[in-house]
Amino acid sequence: NQLEMELEAIEKGGYEHFMLKEIFEQPRSIADCLRGRLDAKNGRLVLGGLRDYMNKFQNADRIIITACGTSWHAGLVAEYLFEEFARIPVEVEYASEFRYRNPVVNEKDFVIAISQSGETADTLAAIELAKSKGATIFGVCNVVGSSIARATHAGSYTHAGPEIGVASTKAFTAQISVLTMMALMLGYQRGTLTESKYVQLLNELEKIPSKVEETLQMNPHIEEISAEYKDARNFLYLGRGYNFPVALEGALKLKEISYIHAEGYPAAEMKHGPIALIDEEMPVVFIATKDNSYEKVVSNIQEVKARKGKIIAVVTEGDTTVKSMADHVLEIPDTAEAFVPLLSVIPLQILSYHIAVMRGCNVDQPRNLAKSVTVE
Ligand code: G6P
Repeated sequence: NQLEMELEAIEKGGYEHFMLKEIFEQPRSIADCLRGRLDAKNGRLVLGGLRDYMNKFQNADRIIITACGTSWHAGLVAEYLFEEFARIPVEVEYASEFRYRNPVVNEKDFVIAISQSGETADTLAAIELAKSKGATIFGVCNVVGSSIARATHAGSYTHAGPEIGVASTKAFTAQISVLTMMALMLGYQRGTLTESKYVQLLNELEKIPSKVEETLQMNPHIEEISAEYKDARNFLYLGRGYNFPVALEGALKLKEISYIHAEGYPAAEMKHGPIALIDEEMPVVFIATKDNSYEKVVSNIQEVKARKGKIIAVVTEGDTTVKSMADHVLEIPDTAEAFVPLLSVIPLQILSYHIAVMRGCNVDQPRNLAKSVTVE
């Protein structure tokens, strides 16, 4: 009825869909997540939930991350973060596989369960299993007081605020923000991250919300590009290193809401299969920011170009090399390599949003999907 429609319009805060509103909330949701925890000026970082468990965390033989869907992608980013900064081996497990595999878990394992809703049945079951084997379980949840938040020994909330769109956006960047803080704290405590590097990273992390804001300015440009690709039948997303999980997430966003078949791959794996799919009909989204693997991604771009694939590239501001090769470039601000996912995922969220809207899809409630999956 009329009243309900008006109420919903107010809830959407002037945006056409919850998903777009939530994408645009990210400068604030990330700032909310960092608030009271990160104090770069004084070189301090404190996650209250971790305090009592820091000893266990620091001395863990292994970190096991378990989650589903987009939260699992945040876990993959965390694998790079923990290994780079804290030098502890990490395994990232789909909760549904982990729980049925008779996994080797013991008291020296530190298990991190990531869940927006805190109600995902498989993740909850994975937690119970790891707990029964004596591991310490730490939750990274968005919904306060949720089942997973209660089942864990300790945890840190993401503070992204309610996420209504079924396709997760702001919860993902908030999860990565928490995991980044955990990795920095752990690295500093273990001495694998020097004081000067630590302080430098804290200062850079503090700038992320305003860099996300800057990234969002690309929205009209991405809308134009979307019009060109809305009828594509397939999409390939490629990235390396920290951007490999971003490629997976970009592909997931597109398939969830536009129903276009999309695959994410580590760029170097392209030659072992996906390259066979490339022709003039195939749009390929590259995440080619200036980092350790930049040169290698550039050669992957050349290989796609040689086969007439259409190239949309997410690049670091000021990049000219990729610009000369790609059909479209989306420029994001420069930041520390480890923080790039927080920026590079934004244009991919926006791209999938516009394509889905142009195809007439219900972006907030895509067919067959549920916001939280409480059955296995
Ligand atoms: C569902 C949602 C996804 C989400 C996944 C895990 O499939 O549609 O957006 O990533 O569950 O949910 P969780 O609440 O555990 O993060």
